[in-house]
Amino acid sequence: MMEVTREKSMENRPNWTSRYAFILATIGSAVGLGNIWRFPYIMGQHGGAVFLITYLILITTICFIPLLAELSIGKITQKECIGAYESINPRFKYLGMMNPVACILVAAFYFVVGGWIINYIYLGCTDFEANNYATYFSSFTQNSIPTCILTIIFLFTCIFFTARGIKKGVEVANNIMMPLLAVILIGLVIYSLNLPNAGVGLAYMFKPDFSKINGEMFLCALGQALFTLSIGMGTILTYGSYIKDDKNIAKSAYSIIFFDTMFALMAGIMIFPAIFSFGLEPNSGAGLVFVTLPHIFAQMTGGNFVSVAFFTLLLFAALTSGISILEVPVASLTERLKISRLKASALVFLIVAIIALPATLSFGLLKDISIFNKTIFDLLDYLTANIMMPLNALVICLLAGYGLKLKGHMFMQNKTLATLFNVGLRIIIPIVLVGVLLIGLQ
Ligand code: PFF
Repeated sequence: MMEVTREKSMENRPNWTSRYAFILATIGSAVGLGNIWRFPYIMGQHGGAVFLITYLILITTICFIPLLAELSIGKITQKECIGAYESINPRFKYLGMMNPVACILVAAFYFVVGGWIINYIYLGCTDFEANNYATYFSSFTQNSIPTCILTIIFLFTCIFFTARGIKKGVEVANNIMMPLLAVILIGLVIYSLNLPNAGVGLAYMFKPDFSKINGEMFLCALGQALFTLSIGMGTILTYGSYIKDDKNIAKSAYSIIFFDTMFALMAGIMIFPAIFSFGLEPNSGAGLVFVTLPHIFAQMTGGNFVSVAFFTLLLFAALTSGISILEVPVASLTERLKISRLKASALVFLIVAIIALPATLSFGLLKDISIFNKTIFDLLDYLTANIMMPLNALVICLLAGYGLKLKGHMFMQNKTLATLFNVGLRIIIPIVLVGVLLIGLQ
């Protein structure tokens, strides 16, 4: 097996305070807009329960393998992404750069949505009279100055925590926001389940209609599972590299999957009963959270309060993911260029802002600029989710499977599971990911 080099300078790298802190932060990275915004609307577009079953199968089987591989590369090499790839195989150093680059590109569109959320919290606090939320949403997103300011505020909040370091920044943010997020979500689920007709929404989520199964649904479920677990962007690797002691990272990986899935399910259980209770359609796509839900809140008794609670929940979820996205380029710059975390954070702030501002404006001022037939925002989303994430997840499986020669028995006592892991890592997942990539490129 290839010996992984450990440099002296790496000895003063940051570490998590405890295994709990590591798991909480990684769940914070995983639980984000993907769970509360993207998961319900994609499920709504793909027939509800059948999508859910497919998703649950994929996330607990196929996705477990690259998740564990990415975590292990970080834990074993104890380096940021570029150094980690390089220490397994020096020729892969340049491929390692794909991680910080992808994170910067994801941040540039993810943070635009983060800015919108701040606006909707404000909206809930002020005037929440029923009006046309579709028109409101499109006119708000076209409004250059407020949207740009909000994107920058969101970016600044994330980089503030990243700049403070792992223990004083990332851990603190997750220790505060994750429990609050869980409490708000549970409160909203209870509220939603008590609405009239809530049962119809639950039936939509849990009663499968098998005629809705098709290949596109399968791919969307897989793409969603990879995205929600933050696989293929280096966040899991980087967070894994700060682990000092974790005797059982397979168990940690399963905890991350379990909690991420619980948050997504609860988001569905909160949203679908409300939608059916107000006689609306569940398949309105990306506007589900910014158009359909405000419409519902406006008609509810106490809707302002529910709205502020919901968008605060969404904000915390987005912030803890945003912090993890920025950690990847900040760690790479700090360790590769040997500069301070503060300097690296300032540099990342600048780079992300330079790309995020045009992405913000691509709904208004720059909406006619199209590259490969896509607006700047859509291009960033497409490039990262359809190409860079699956490509990088593929590289991770190959590096872990053939470079580090990770074997199932390192993590699992059960022989059959260990063999399955091995075959999955080296053969099955790479084939699936090549398929995802080819389809994503069409
Ligand atoms: N997993 C996050 C979500 O579900 O919103 C998104 C994400 C975070 C993707 C971090 C990639 C990443 F590196």
